Amino acid sequence: MDVDPARLAMSVGEAMFTQRSIRRLRSDPIPIEDLRLILEAASKAPSGGNRQPARFLVLTDREILRQFGALYHEAWWAKRRDEGRGWTKREDIPPEEQNARSAAQLADEIKDAPCIVLALTQAKGQASSVIPAVQNLMLAARALGIGSVPTTLHPRVMERVYALLGIPAGAELYLCIPLGYPRGHFGPTQRRPTAETTFFNHWGDPTPWATREAAVATGTGS
Ligand SMILES: Cc1cc2nc3c(=O)[nH]c(=O)nc-3n(C[C@H](O)[C@H](O)[C@H](O)COP(=O)(O)O)c2cc1C
Repeated sequence: MDVDPARLAMSVGEAMFTQRSIRRLRSDPIPIEDLRLILEAASKAPSGGNRQPARFLVLTDREILRQFGALYHEAWWAKRRDEGRGWTKREDIPPEEQNARSAAQLADEIKDAPCIVLALTQAKGQASSVIPAVQNLMLAARALGIGSVPTTLHPRVMERVYALLGIPAGAELYLCIPLGYPRGHFGPTQRRPTAETTFFNHWGDPTPWATREAAVATGTGS
């Protein structure tokens, strides 16, 4: 089983600009060579001092996924209780809360995902060396037509998750990433304009493109 990066031939631009959260997943299994390629891509990410602390736990066993899915569901609703918005079931979430509604649907359905990847480290407090690997993982998945979404759990279920999966107590679990072929579509995302999120040379100073676009908008530039 060779690792062939050429299989990720989609342009980086297309992958990044069409990667959105895919929460409605088909249950078809993901070929093991594709899972390997995705994990190999993750392993190429940078890390502090190249210490490579990220560890991944790939779940494909149906019974483990079923048990993990029940804990994920409990965790999702525990987070909602913490928020104090009074939501205790899916029907309580207002229609305009589209993100929360689809996240709640994922909490119901994650047990049927063909694969879930957990991103961890053996010691605590190394998130910044794990997140780049997770982004690589999700972009590689995107290039193979496989959807993903980064999610978190809740302290309430952690002990049981660790026990279920044999994770040592000193390890830290950062993200839980379900993977699967989308029931919906990849596509554009809604993000704040960089004119709002990016400064140039000095905090608060606009970027050249923001200045130019503002001038064009007010008819004072070309
Ligand atoms: C740190 C982090 C935690 C997240 N946790 C969850 C989660 O628990 N459940 C979920 O469905 N989505 C989760 N997401 C996905 C975000 O909701 C998603 O990236 C954001 O709404 C943008 O969605 P889009 O990519 O579809 O535009 C998380 C994302 C990040 C980066």
